[in-house]
Amino acid sequence: MTIHPTTPFEGQKPGTSGLRKKTPVFMQPNFLENFVQSTFDAIGGVEGKTLVLGGDGRYFGAAAAQTILKMAAANGAARVIVGQGAWLSTPAASNMIRARKSDGGLILSASHNPGGPNADFGVKYNSANGGPAPEAVTDAIFARTRTITEFRKLDVADADLSRPGEQPMGAMVVEVVDPVAAYADLMETLFDFKALRGLFHGGFTMRMDSMCAITGPYAKEIFEHRLGAAPGTVVHGTPLPDFGGMHPDPNPTWAHELMDELMGREAPDFGAASDGDGDRNMILGRGVYVSPSDSLAVIAANATLVPGYADGLKGVARSMPTSTAVDRVAQALGLDCYETPTGWKFFGNLMDAGRVSLCGEESFGTGSDHVREKDGLWAILMWLNIIAVRGQSVAEIMAEHFARYGRNYYSRHDYEALPTEVATAMLDALRARLDALKGMSSQGLVVESADEFCYTDPVDGSVSAHQGFRILFEGGSRVVLRLSGTGTEGATLRVYLERYVAGPEGLSEDPQAALAPIIAATEEIVGIKARTGRPGPNVIS
Ligand code: G6P
Ligand code: ZN
Repeated sequence: MTIHPTTPFEGQKPGTSGLRKKTPVFMQPNFLENFVQSTFDAIGGVEGKTLVLGGDGRYFGAAAAQTILKMAAANGAARVIVGQGAWLSTPAASNMIRARKSDGGLILSASHNPGGPNADFGVKYNSANGGPAPEAVTDAIFARTRTITEFRKLDVADADLSRPGEQPMGAMVVEVVDPVAAYADLMETLFDFKALRGLFHGGFTMRMDSMCAITGPYAKEIFEHRLGAAPGTVVHGTPLPDFGGMHPDPNPTWAHELMDELMGREAPDFGAASDGDGDRNMILGRGVYVSPSDSLAVIAANATLVPGYADGLKGVARSMPTSTAVDRVAQALGLDCYETPTGWKFFGNLMDAGRVSLCGEESFGTGSDHVREKDGLWAILMWLNIIAVRGQSVAEIMAEHFARYGRNYYSRHDYEALPTEVATAMLDALRARLDALKGMSSQGLVVESADEFCYTDPVDGSVSAHQGFRILFEGGSRVVLRLSGTGTEGATLRVYLERYVAGPEGLSEDPQAALAPIIAATEEIVGIKARTGRPGPNVIS
């Protein structure tokens, strides 16, 4: 039987990055099938099309891949290119879609959320440009999930995904490919692998924490095999269905083992981590943490040292809450700098239109137009290439950067699981007072402007309103407030604090201490503690 009757499930609305649910929700009979058939229907069917399929190795991924293959075959797809073991990191999938000129792809991942039978699972559709489906497509998918009456799935044996090669499934070809090779080859075209081999040969030490997620095989191939880093450079390098119990989110809290090592006495020269599906990154030097916003600025300032960017950047973009450190670099280099709403999808149009080559977000995402997703290992290789050319440590590079451009002290304070009404009322009250804030002074800071961010895409003219509040102080400091778009419980308020110090004095303070006046001014203006009854943020990063 190929055609199976079904009835709609509630709540199959794709979020920022595809449909994410608890694994048992996804494992209910027909749940995955409904979503995949709705996706196929929403993109005009898959008849005669070539698709890419892979994921981050989390629990249920391999079984889900078999279901999707049988559904693609029953829906008339010509070919599905699938990573061996159903593995493909998100950036590698983006590259595969583009390199093979396929019609799109499905990525099985819940990104940096934990995996396992009682953790999270997700499915995301990417378009032919390799990037996350635009909102028009995800809206059409959601609409279809509400009316679906049947799905198509061949009743055949599972494909053998254990080794590369082609095999038929009905009239469709299942092409199993090495998940790593094409991506590693792409990296060789962008970076000076000879210089990087020289760096490691000269005794440079690195620790890469893949957090038992998908980048392990990629990192071992690139760093240990192709670049000659010492065996053992990559830790937690085998993707496990439950990520070995780790929370694969590369930040100081969740990658604390790596943090401890890099801040300790036996620290290697360089440390890095990536997330579940390999699109996020964290950069560390011996004794130094590089904030994602600073990482973006340093990469922008030094990009022409890297072969793939030697001709210069087309322009740069950052999400609105990301610090303005990169703006200062762009200004010095005469580059266009775009400010977009939170979410990688807003960079796609700018890259497709050739307006920017480099993009980044405070949420540990950095990438370029080599693919249409953020790319953790790419960011790590950018840093290594810059280090190899400059012959300096991360600490030296940061110190010189701050001395030249000044320092944007930065921190994010999160208030999680607030009652939605409380959070909304607080921001409504702030919205009502925005105009009155101008000229107000608090803690020695004077409000220069205050607004609610509304983005007009310069390429297609689409407008995204209500993207967060910006309060700018005279002198380049600011605070941004917005509600998380990815939280699962109540509302999460994110407060992004930034203080600019031009130098030469005061460039090496503790960020929380440097930000104290901004924190106090924010409390005076917004009254977060007073309105929420919380003594302070529950996560500081
Ligand atoms: C996802 C997206 C990122 C975005 C982040 C924002 O991870 O891939 O592009 O920056 O969500 O999350 P938030 O919880 O702040 O809405
Ligand atoms: Zn991710």
